[in-house]
Amino acid sequence: MTSQSDVVELELKINPLRAGEMSQRPYVIDEMISAKSIAARIEALSREIHDEFEDTNKLVVVGLLRGSFVFIADLVRELDLTVEVDFLEASSYGDAMESSREVRIFKDLRGAIEGRDVLVVEDIIDTGHTLSHVTDYLLTKGPARLKSIALLDKPARREVDYKADWIGFEIPDEFVVGYGIDFAQRNRNLPHIGKVRFTDE
Ligand code: IMP
Ligand code: MG
Repeated sequence: MTSQSDVVELELKINPLRAGEMSQRPYVIDEMISAKSIAARIEALSREIHDEFEDTNKLVVVGLLRGSFVFIADLVRELDLTVEVDFLEASSYGDAMESSREVRIFKDLRGAIEGRDVLVVEDIIDTGHTLSHVTDYLLTKGPARLKSIALLDKPARREVDYKADWIGFEIPDEFVVGYGIDFAQRNRNLPHIGKVRFTDE
């Protein structure tokens, strides 16, 4: 069955620059994961991360800009460990609703991670291209240990075999926003995760 978001994504594959136009269409956001559920899940995840990294005082938590900024803020405040925070920005198709397959690094880390323990924090894994590319890239910098966490995972959309060490929630193939995640740069400030539903058809 072809879902509405498949249709939108198909159009964007033909012309990703139409994304801005797509976001002009009227839509509503249906709540999918409440702020309370997210907070509870982060509490549980941070206990697991604590167990993994409690033997180190060299942990660098690397957030992927921009979508992970809310998640990383909540996650590090639950982590009872000495951490440094750094950011990296990898490309996708600007404002598109579809991930690009070619991943570039737009903004690199400020600090060195050689010999350090690193936790990469991502908002959502879709095709898997972004995180697999970013982790390959970070490995070239020689970290002692590299782990990854994503708040959301859409396994049905995977194109490259990538598995994060921790996942907040597995979700179906829906376009989601909120809690740092955007649709054409909007809705990042929503406290929960919701799915985009167009209302003009
Ligand atoms: P991947 O490279 O296909 O795994 O894509 C990951 C990136 O695509 C995420 O970091 C998001 O920026 C973006 N993305 C994937 N799915 C969604 C979604 O449902 N809403 C908003 N952005 C998404
Ligand atoms: Mg992203």
